[in-house]
Amino acid sequence: MNDPTTPSAPAAGLEGVVVAESEISYVDGEAGRLVYRGYEIEDLAENSTFEETALLLLDGELPSRESLTAFTERLEAERGLDDEVLDLLHGFAADADPMAALRTAVSAEGMFDPDAGADPLDGEATRRKAIRLIARFPTIVAAFDRLRNGRTPVGPREGLSHAANFLWMLSGEEPDPEAAGILDVALILHAEHGMNASTFSARVTAATLSDLHSAITSAVGTLKGTLHGGANAEVMRMLLEIEKRGTDPETYVDETLDAGKRVMGFGHRVYRTIDPRAPILAEFSRRLGEKSGETKWHAWSERIREAMESRKGLAPNVDFFSASTYHALGIPVDLFTPIFAISRVAGWTAHVEAQYAKNRLIRPRARYVGASGRTWVPFEERR
Ligand code: COA
Repeated sequence: MNDPTTPSAPAAGLEGVVVAESEISYVDGEAGRLVYRGYEIEDLAENSTFEETALLLLDGELPSRESLTAFTERLEAERGLDDEVLDLLHGFAADADPMAALRTAVSAEGMFDPDAGADPLDGEATRRKAIRLIARFPTIVAAFDRLRNGRTPVGPREGLSHAANFLWMLSGEEPDPEAAGILDVALILHAEHGMNASTFSARVTAATLSDLHSAITSAVGTLKGTLHGGANAEVMRMLLEIEKRGTDPETYVDETLDAGKRVMGFGHRVYRTIDPRAPILAEFSRRLGEKSGETKWHAWSERIREAMESRKGLAPNVDFFSASTYHALGIPVDLFTPIFAISRVAGWTAHVEAQYAKNRLIRPRARYVGASGRTWVPFEERR
């Protein structure tokens, strides 16, 4: 049916469609630049910390030393989970996908949050919730991982950075400073990325004047998919599959592409050239491989990169080298995407606050292309 009342639909997947103005980050797909609040990602990766970057995303300015200390102390104070949420985690299936566990725990957090009943437009209450969520994402992920392995959760430890404390809660061992430093930079790199799919879903939920936890639950569910945050785990599964098959990386790429499938960790909707986060992670992957003596994952990743460049002209995205980096840090493969979430919750909360600050319901239309002019018929007459 030709629907004269709606204009024709934009490109599939809303490619190229601008849905909002944002002051939070700038993704320059042509030049391969990522800028948070006016600061180049390379500058932040070199000099900032995840805590400072999160506050920069939320407030729009680099914090004073005092504000950063206060924010860090608030995060530390909010890391512990409520007993109700911990009890819930005890009941999760051991073989549950950690992203499903995180999504469910975040949703539950929303019920037990002290500001649960607050008006979403109460900026101070929403900020308190945002801080609790940023603080608790690592605790939820680490507690779930320990419980599914039959171990007791390890509580947060004061005096450790966000990244170091996550490694501590995961293993219960003193985190290696280099590992914590690398994870800290990885968290900076993943914290924000314009109107990516999960951020968009968070904003759509918030725009109905639903609460922050509902918006972040939507975002976690959206990040889970393999075309978005789920790609980093898929990259590692590919590397492990290459090892299992005993094939070489080039053959694997050829076979995958010849079968019409995608090689995970390549391509991007916005970047037409390099994803500026990839080379930073590639360097970590190389360094950690050399340090541990297990150099093959990085070497194979480089060979896959070259094969994809020559066969498809596609460059790696953020998920490609984060796989071999996290693997070298000893992190289980299915926690790679939750780590993405531990970081991106900073960007999500900044976007939800921005949405509330200048809200209008996000409600696009569909162009109807279905049947018309039909009349209901009884069962006996249906074919
Ligand atoms: N492997 C193989 N081919 C790929 C590819 C990949 N990873 N990514 C894109 N392509 C190809 C598509 O097959 C298509 O080729 P064609 O025009 O010959 O059919 C072309 O590149 C454009 O792809 P399209 O799906 O239209 O791009 P998109 O903008 O809709 O998708 C992604 C972007 C990220 C979803 C896509 O690149 C992808 O699936 N990548 C793998 C998953 C991933 O790494 N996701 C994390 C993103 S940060």
